[in-house]
Amino acid sequence: MYRLFRPLLFSLDPERSHDLTLGLLHCAYRVPGLRTLNRSLHTRHTPSLPVEVMGLHLRNPVGLAAGLDKNASCVAPLGDLGFGFLELGTVTPRAQPGNPKKRMYRIETHEALINRMGFNNVGLETFLGNLARASRVCPLGINIGKNRDTPAEHALDDYMLGLRTVYPVADYVAVNVSSPNTPGLRALQEQETLAALLAALKSEQDGLARAYGRYVPIALKIAPDLADEDIHAIARLLLTHRIDAVIATNTTISRPGLENDVTAQQSGGLSGKPLRALATHVIRELYRELAGRIPIIGVGGISSADDAWEKILAGADLVQIYTALIYRGPAAVRHIVAGIDSRMRTLGATSFAEARAMHAGSVR
Ligand SMILES: Cc1cc2nc3c(=O)[nH]c(=O)nc-3n(C[C@H](O)[C@H](O)[C@H](O)COP(=O)(O)O)c2cc1C
Repeated sequence: MYRLFRPLLFSLDPERSHDLTLGLLHCAYRVPGLRTLNRSLHTRHTPSLPVEVMGLHLRNPVGLAAGLDKNASCVAPLGDLGFGFLELGTVTPRAQPGNPKKRMYRIETHEALINRMGFNNVGLETFLGNLARASRVCPLGINIGKNRDTPAEHALDDYMLGLRTVYPVADYVAVNVSSPNTPGLRALQEQETLAALLAALKSEQDGLARAYGRYVPIALKIAPDLADEDIHAIARLLLTHRIDAVIATNTTISRPGLENDVTAQQSGGLSGKPLRALATHVIRELYRELAGRIPIIGVGGISSADDAWEKILAGADLVQIYTALIYRGPAAVRHIVAGIDSRMRTLGATSFAEARAMHAGSVR
């Protein structure tokens, strides 16, 4: 069915078609019967492939990546597409407009996007109001960031406020230090700065867990544009500070295979197919150091079950998609879940760790 709508959506400016789709989904859910229709088209056809990661019980390991529903305005319609979990945000303490438009580009021949949105979002207060009205159909991660006009030396305050505010309503909190579109943000991945941030987050999480009687895991989302030794150093910091998961990766500032493409020269983060191998490399390097002690959420260029499986074999315990949803439509979710399920059955594996061990044995 998406094949019928796609030409119309692609005839519009990418951001307009994004806003229009979310707006229509939001409104459609007020019409009796349409929710049942959406569920019967998607959720019902998505195989059950339960996994437990970060102490969360998920109906399947395929999630929505951050950035598509920044304001928690479409939680039920997106959950009903069959995802195992959704990551909402990035939300910043105060509302902000983001970068000037135009700020999102399609590179259709490569099933890729370039965006320099710059954390356009409604801010924590409105975000929480939206979420309170939403019906939750699967676990929800909330991705937090800093406001553009918060000086670097106060970045920690924004993350602390974000963590404290979303903690009671999140199933996990994703800490975004890797968007290329907020000046200075990625510098938070540098060792000393990151160590201070992780230590503060962990101590705040301990206090919040005691106060609410509920432990909410924290995941750090990192960039694909890191040298191997930086990836290893980050992995060691995650272990030292007992961070619950790592999300790899955000969009890239590099342009692999797109050197001659005119649109690809736009500034911003690249997502979709050209990011796939780079993101998988980061996962493999993280896994080399973490060896299963901290779960990895693999994201970047997944558009098929083969792509998801590649990430799982590299070390991912969960996967997420964004750009594939734009190019392939909602059916991508169930195709990826079904493909992972059939590969697990063929191997006779009961967990991804077992699948990785079997695969390693077979290629040795
Ligand atoms: C338009 C757009 C906006 C995004 N906004 C965010 C964001 O606000 N926070 C974030 O952590 N990642 C954001 N991302 C990155 C995605 O979550 C994901 O990491 C990246 O797109 C790679 O996955 P994909 O190739 O499946 O799209 C955004 C991606 C796109 C395309």
